Amino acid sequence: MATILLVYESSEGQTAKVASFVASELRDRDHRVDVERASDLPSTLDVERYDGVLIGASVHAGEHQTPVRRFVTANRDTLSSAPSGFFSVSLSAASEDEQSREAAAEIAEDFLADVEWEPDQVALVPGALKYSKYGFFKRLLLREIARRESGDTDTSQDYEYTDWDSVAEFADDFARLVEEATPMAPDSGDAASSE
Ligand SMILES: Cc1cc2nc3c(=O)[nH]c(=O)nc-3n(C[C@H](O)[C@H](O)[C@H](O)COP(=O)(O)O)c2cc1C
Repeated sequence: MATILLVYESSEGQTAKVASFVASELRDRDHRVDVERASDLPSTLDVERYDGVLIGASVHAGEHQTPVRRFVTANRDTLSSAPSGFFSVSLSAASEDEQSREAAAEIAEDFLADVEWEPDQVALVPGALKYSKYGFFKRLLLREIARRESGDTDTSQDYEYTDWDSVAEFADDFARLVEEATPMAPDSGDAASSE
């Protein structure tokens, strides 16, 4: 069993949902997972004690959240010495237009270059449109963005584009990476037979 830290930030809840899905996939593989919100980290958090670290953030106006940026910058050395992964949740990643999907990749690449972090795994995760949660102006803005990205402009309902099978694959790949990097505790049966 490995111990994994998952730090995320989420403005309207979709990245939080992805984070808890990833955590449950990892727990299904018998790993211990601590999920923490970047803007509400416990002061006692010791990042160095984890066998692997995953970080998730969503895109708003072309940027990932500042608390995630701060967390990565403050823990860059630790993140580079253990298996690490990043997932970026956005509407552009949901687009059928290749240029928009490339834009999503560019935003994630720019973020990683800015914070000088090279995670072992990166996923661009299609997010959600939650018209019911937006105020008047945000709803208008998102309808405009949606016109370009997804085409779903009926603001009387919400839309979720996240491909949960792909997210499960990302979690599985990360679990494998951590398992390969983490020395297994000696099997008690072996220990008994060697005596
Ligand atoms: C005010 C606002 C601005 C946004 N700007 C972008 C953007 O620049 N590019 C993009 O791809 N998605 C953008 N989105 C879409 C979000 O990335 C998407 O809704 C995502 O699911 C949000 O995740 P969260 O709920 O975890 O914050 C924006 C959403 C809002 C509400």
